[in-house]
Formats: sequence, C-alpha cells, structure tokens
Amino acid sequence: KNIAIVMGGYSSEYDISIKSGNVVYQHLDREVYHPYRIIISKEKWFFLDENGKEFPVDRSDFSIQATEKIQFDCVFNAIHGTPGEDGLLQAYFELVGVPQTSCNHYQAALSFNKRDLLSVLKPHGIPCATSYFLDKGQTIDEDGIVDKVGLPCFVKANRAGSSYGISKVYKKKELKGAIEKALTEDDQVLIESFLDGVEVSVGVITYQGQVKVLPITEIVSENDFFDFEAKYLGKSQEITPARISSIKEANVRKLAAFIYKVLGFKGYTRSEFIFIGDEPYLLEVNTIPGLTEESILPKQAKAAGISLKELFSSAIEEALP
Ligand code: DAL
Ligand code: MG
Repeated sequence: KNIAIVMGGYSSEYDISIKSGNVVYQHLDREVYHPYRIIISKEKWFFLDENGKEFPVDRSDFSIQATEKIQFDCVFNAIHGTPGEDGLLQAYFELVGVPQTSCNHYQAALSFNKRDLLSVLKPHGIPCATSYFLDKGQTIDEDGIVDKVGLPCFVKANRAGSSYGISKVYKKKELKGAIEKALTEDDQVLIESFLDGVEVSVGVITYQGQVKVLPITEIVSENDFFDFEAKYLGKSQEITPARISSIKEANVRKLAAFIYKVLGFKGYTRSEFIFIGDEPYLLEVNTIPGLTEESILPKQAKAAGISLKELFSSAIEEALP
C-alpha cells in the first residue's frame, strides 16, 4: 500500500514535524507499506524521494507525478500545528477521499483551540485552570487579568504547540511582553492560573481496534516549566511509568479515556494534566503528538511493549476503510 507521510506544516513546529515524519518513515513496515515523504510547507507541497529530488503534489486529488502518477491508500499525518493539527488537512483529505491516521476535521479544529476544547469539556465536570482570553488588538487590562487568574500565571498562544509562545509570568509588568510573544504565534491568547502540582502526559490511542491508555509519563522539568528547551533539548526528565499513587493513576486514566471517547477521537492523542490533590486538571489535548526521538508518545508505546513499527502499522490499519 502507498502511504503518504505528510510532514512540515505552516507553523513554528515545522522542524519538529519533519523529525516526527522521518521517524515514521524510518520505522514503517516496508514489507506491507510503501512510504512516500510528502513535505507540506507554506511555499509548496512536494514529494521528496530517496535522492532528495522533489516532485510536485497535485492538490486536486492528492497525487504525485514521479515517473508515473501515484495515488495514496492512506496518509500518515505527522504535521503538528496548522494545517495538520487544526482540521484543515483533515477536511481536505476527507474531501478528496484519502483516509488519514489522525482524528477527523471537527475534533482536530476543536482540540487545537485550547480555549474551546476546555469550554466543551468543562460541563462534563472536567477540572481546568481559571482562564482569561484575549484577542489580538484587544486592550490589555492587566488588573483584570491578575484579578481573575492570579500570579504566577501562564500566557499561551491559544492555537500553537511545542510551547512556542508560552511564558510563565510572575509580575504584572511582565504580562504585556508575554502577551506580545504569544501573539507572534497566534492572534488569540489564553492566560491561565498556575496549577502547582505534578504534571503528567497521557497517551490514548486506538490500537488494534481497542481504545488503549498507554503508561503515564511524569514530567520533571529542569527549567521553570516544560518549555521548548525542556521538551526537546534534554532539560527535563520524563519518567514512564509516572511515580504517582494508584488513586491518581486510576483517576487520570479514566479521565483521559473518557475525553477520547466523549469527543470521538481517532488515532493518537496525548493529553496533559496537572494534579491538585488526587484530581487531574486538564491543560490540553494534542491530536498530532510528537513522534521524534525526544517525544513522549513513542516512549509510552515502548513501555507498553509496542514497537514503533507496530504502533505505526496499527495507525494505518485503523485509518483504512
Ligand atoms: N506539539 C508537540 C509536537 C507535541 O504535542 O508533542
Ligand atoms: Mg501541545
């Protein structure tokens, strides 16, 4: 079967996505699948062959013209951020009729918007941080923000990943700079109260037909929070399985599985939580979790006894009609 591994994207997470895509490319079972690396960048969409030669993608049917015209049985979606994680590509592949490994366009769009995802889940009794939302151009009411979320707080780009645009703010006078930084990634800003507790990351996937919660990872950042450097440049310890009580573990597993089912996810998801007491507070759900050497989901799969080859094969088989 011909598998298009799409990677790159239009956001700051381009390089991370290329790494994720290349991990998929390396580990895909060559006896069953023929993988093609498809780079999707702002400038162009193209197939990159083994020799580094580029061939354009025909966007009308998502085919490529190499020595012959090639169409794909399935897309392996490895694009973090827009347009791979926010529903745009999902909708496009749904329209051109090519199955793909991540969730559908609606779930992707909803999850990539942190504010909207949390507001949909809150009425289900899922705890989250107190938050304040700001659009680009809106007056920055520093007192109003601090009254609502307190200090320290987190200033985030509402629709971004890999911690791009995130700051932890300790003083009111730092808010403006932090908001400006978030606005370089997105034109919406989400400001959240600081949750002081153990942070965990929970992978939920559909594996061989079953929804499966992977072993939980505890994040111990050497930096002040789990920022880009902590995520990708070794400035953190990621401990799998997490050193948490069985009550905490049961609570967070149940919650992560509930979220996956109630929103109708497919493919891989990885949700972030912080414990206040035994109660997990939801930060966000990633629907295209990183698959790089430094990323968490591949380590969780290995801890569950699932090889990358098995993990990627299962994603494709789940996506195929
Ligand atoms: N956004 C990054 C790739 C992650 O969630 O792993
Ligand atoms: Mg994220």
